[in-house]
Amino acid sequence: MNLEIVILAAGLGKRMHSALPKVLHQVAGKSMLRHVLDTALQLNPRKVAIVSGHKGELIESEVAALQDPRLICCRQAQQLGTADAVKAALPQLSAEGTVLVLYADTPLTPVSDLNALLQTLEQHNADLALLTCKLDNPFGYGRILRTVDGSVSAVVEEKDCTEEQRQIKEINSGIIAVKADKLQTYLPCIGCDNAQHEYYLTDLTGLIAADQGKVCALCSDNFSRLQGVNNKLQLAAAERTYQRLQAERLMGEGVTLADPERFDLRGELLHGDDCFIDVNCVFSGHCVLGHNVSIGAGCIITDCDIADNSVISPYTVMEQSHLKQRTTIGPFARLRPGNTLEDDVHVGNFVELKKAHLGKGTKAGHLSYLGDSEIGADVNIGAGTITCNYDGANKHQTVIEDDVFVGSDTQLVAPVTVRKGATIAAGTTVTKEVPAEALVLTRTRALYKSHYQRPRKQKK
Ligand code: UD1
Ligand code: CA
Repeated sequence: MNLEIVILAAGLGKRMHSALPKVLHQVAGKSMLRHVLDTALQLNPRKVAIVSGHKGELIESEVAALQDPRLICCRQAQQLGTADAVKAALPQLSAEGTVLVLYADTPLTPVSDLNALLQTLEQHNADLALLTCKLDNPFGYGRILRTVDGSVSAVVEEKDCTEEQRQIKEINSGIIAVKADKLQTYLPCIGCDNAQHEYYLTDLTGLIAADQGKVCALCSDNFSRLQGVNNKLQLAAAERTYQRLQAERLMGEGVTLADPERFDLRGELLHGDDCFIDVNCVFSGHCVLGHNVSIGAGCIITDCDIADNSVISPYTVMEQSHLKQRTTIGPFARLRPGNTLEDDVHVGNFVELKKAHLGKGTKAGHLSYLGDSEIGADVNIGAGTITCNYDGANKHQTVIEDDVFVGSDTQLVAPVTVRKGATIAAGTTVTKEVPAEALVLTRTRALYKSHYQRPRKQKK
């Protein structure tokens, strides 16, 4: 089939009360426009024409980021309505084949519904097919008017409805499939004699039907996915619908979610068997969990892979890190980008890592900063250990070899190396290389004074 798609994305989105164009607001970390573009491309169209207008440059750069030669942007000079918007795309469309019109503010439309709509058009040899659904509360949507024999005669906008028409529950999703030649013929005939003085694309239905053309409607059951987003309330509803769908898919695949209503995925999550995710976790980017991985409540995880049998305790924040098997992290750990943790590593509460490699079995239990560090196997990092990796201008590397014992409250002034098996006493500031198996201690001699009197406040 010769399919071309038009995506309407020029509107202001007044009801969002935002400087950002409406269709760039995000659902699950991805703009609504991007959701619709991804859906459109799954239909294998020859071309996708995106109509931009309000803050068009922002819309166009979002499209350009996909680097797909089938995507073409067209400018609508003034936002005069959805029919006027399609007019802006008309020069890009061929005179034959089928045109599918999508609204960029309807981000969750299932591909299956769009395929079914295109099939309906073909099977009935219709001129136009509308995607509709039934809503308990149809307020704000265009209503589908049908004649006594049930065929669609027109779409009437909420603001133009009579009291009787307002009772109709079948609504217009906005999505239509139309024969390209009919679009070319009837689009220029649409006027703006209506409550909003706008050129309504929805008038196409009435014009074709009145001219004895064939119009049919496909009523979808996926009402929660066909709802448009015009304000922040509807944006939040779309987000919850999408998150619920992802949660259901993951549970279907065997992931245990403590509460599917309190789970957020803004990207992709791959997983093995027997993973458990407690409440209020947010996964972003591309994350991978092995088998039997447990994620505690409130963890924020971005672009990480976590191998089998690892336990991430509550309120851990981690990004761009690779965790091997049986690692135990947190609670309250912070892994900034660039860490690799080998098997059996333990990173405890209030430990911050950045560009650190921790060897097998190494432990950093409490209150430490390990940055730009190459740390061997079976190293013990005492509480309060700090790698001083920044000299005010440049970053430097700390190397700690296998079996080193770093006492509590140690400062490692980088660049510095601690050789295999060395022991660093508590409270030491290490400024030069520590030889293998050596002890280093930099405390001044202890002073013990008996009957010491602390200074006291003078009485007035
Ligand atoms: C529209 C439909 C309504 C349908 C509803 C479904 C019309 C006239 N009405 O109403 O029947 O039930 O969607 O959600 O089509 N846009 C432009 N240029 C414009 C105006 C709008 O590109 O000049 C774009 C917007 O960016 C948006 C889409 O078209 O993505 C729909 O516009 P919007 O104003 O939200 O239409 P609704 O009032 O929701
Ligand atoms: Ca809308």
